[in-house]
Amino acid sequence: MATTTEIAADVYRISIFVPEINLEFSHFLVKDDEPLLFHAGLRSMFPILHEEVSRLMDVSKLRHIGFSHFESDECGALNDWLGRAPAAQPVCGLVGAVVSVNDFALRPARSLTRDDLLSTGRRQFRFLPTPHVPHGWDAGVLFEESERILFCSDLFHQWGHREPATSDSLIERCREALLEAEAGPFANYVPYTHHTGRILESLAERAPKTLAAMHGSTHYGDGAQALRDLATVMREVLGPKADHGETSPTGTIKA
Ligand SMILES: [Fe+2]
Ligand SMILES: [Fe+2]
Repeated sequence: MATTTEIAADVYRISIFVPEINLEFSHFLVKDDEPLLFHAGLRSMFPILHEEVSRLMDVSKLRHIGFSHFESDECGALNDWLGRAPAAQPVCGLVGAVVSVNDFALRPARSLTRDDLLSTGRRQFRFLPTPHVPHGWDAGVLFEESERILFCSDLFHQWGHREPATSDSLIERCREALLEAEAGPFANYVPYTHHTGRILESLAERAPKTLAAMHGSTHYGDGAQALRDLATVMREVLGPKADHGETSPTGTIKA
């Protein structure tokens, strides 16, 4: 079952909860002159997501299919969307385009650096490269400039079926999520490098007002403070002082 919520004017969060893994996946549709979908979603979710987007607009009119990094929940169904929308183009960072997407996708990507603006009509977007934050060399986040909406992919990951949007702090949920991931077979979900704090600070300096997370609630409020809090939690849970690990039989590094 999908839950669709308008988180800003003509910006829709379409969330699908998967009880087997206690995780929801959110996809964001921006209805504008050139409609944009951020997160193409898993191939297995394409039928339900397609149905939900169809309720909101003519799918064949989609123009931009964006995502943070090359991973199935981000872009597994990319070619399904490109097949349904003849004018649609993948949108991602330069590394993503050159390393993966231009080979994988039916059509080449429009690759963006942080100096490029993507206009959908009324809204302007910037793709901010964030290598290895949350993960992947090609990672980035999409920032909508007029209302300062940060489409932040796996940052602020929360387990469970959450309220679509909240003004309450997400930080303890995020701490629990990181700790839970580290304790199981999906440890090392998010790497911590000497660039992590600086990258999160560069996002905080944009002072987002809305954090549109892929997994868990969208957050309204002081996004700069939330990003700085997240940097602290990531350093505490994942940083050098937390790492006394060894490699397990499944390849994860455990404390
Ligand atoms: Fe991811
Ligand atoms: Fe994800």
